Amino acid sequence: MDDADFLLGLKNDPEMRRFAVVTHKKIRQKDHIEWLKNHLHEIRIIGNKQGMVRISDDREVSINIAPQFRGKGLASKVLAQLSDGLWAKIVNGNVASMRLFLQNGFMITDYKEGYYVLKN
Ligand SMILES: CC(C)(COP(=O)(O)OP(=O)(O)OC[C@H]1O[C@@H](n2cnc3c(N)ncnc32)[C@H](O)[C@@H]1OP(=O)(O)O)[C@@H](O)C(=O)NCCC(=O)NCCS
Repeated sequence: MDDADFLLGLKNDPEMRRFAVVTHKKIRQKDHIEWLKNHLHEIRIIGNKQGMVRISDDREVSINIAPQFRGKGLASKVLAQLSDGLWAKIVNGNVASMRLFLQNGFMITDYKEGYYVLKN
């Protein structure tokens, strides 16, 4: 919970909100804290607060690198270490994320309203 504010900052980064599946609205701190309490076990901080990766209980991967650390190969390093049997949702137009996942063993398996489903 000590990293709650850092994680909220990542969530509310404009790039992240733009490509979020559920809502594009800014997440309020109160809602974030409630959500985080139930999902702490799914989340890992990358490096020294360079980003976060979440593997949900139903095996969905989501990753978010802090803006100043993007484009340095960090997300690729993290995805390369993940086990098989995972899936991800990538919103139509999120080119960086699509390239990242395709380069790291994921394949598109479905298209739903506005997002692709990928599996590794
Ligand atoms: C998508 C994201 C996680 C990539 O993290 P990153 O550490 O910058 O990615 P990497 O540096 O490891 O790059 C891996 C590959 O992603 C692609 N990529 C990264 N940034 C890109 C950009 N701005 N435009 C196009 N492709 C990009 C490239 O294909 C790159 O491989 P390459 O260097 O061989 O071309 C990061 O941009 C991010 O946090 N975005 C906002 C949140 C988000 O959309 N998360 C994904 C939802 S699951």
